[in-house]
Amino acid sequence: MLTEQEIEEIEAEYPRYEQREAVSVEALKIVQRHRGWVSDDAMGDVARLLEMDVAELDAVATFYNLIYRKPVGRHVILVCDSVSCWVMDGETIRQHLEARLGIGLGETTADGRFTLLPVVCLGACHQAPAMMIDDDLHHDLTPEKIDAILETYQ
Ligand code: FES
Repeated sequence: MLTEQEIEEIEAEYPRYEQREAVSVEALKIVQRHRGWVSDDAMGDVARLLEMDVAELDAVATFYNLIYRKPVGRHVILVCDSVSCWVMDGETIRQHLEARLGIGLGETTADGRFTLLPVVCLGACHQAPAMMIDDDLHHDLTPEKIDAILETYQ
């Protein structure tokens, strides 16, 4: 069941778009903001509210890869997996994150603190290599810098 607040926030998006389908990405982001991820049940509830087919809404979620379809950690690390970061030794950054966190891409630490996900270009190519943690962009990364940054997310 969507909460009243979730419904209210989703319905507040209606006037901004002509069709309810167009609200779908915003609606999924609203649910995710409240719950951390979008379960099958929540997906069904949003589809009903928007009068959409669940499969159609699920396709939107799949296409928009920042909608999480399974539980994530308290903090989500999006490590850039695109060309400018590769050139600037992004592979070392990814390997360092994996070693430091003890997880691979797509996984969550056992304490539920971090989820590590690859992402296409973060738009910070001139400051590569880059990653985002939650809403914060971190750039010009080095292994040492990563260690210090991770400590600030509990
Ligand atoms: S390629 Fe990594 S930020 Fe653009």
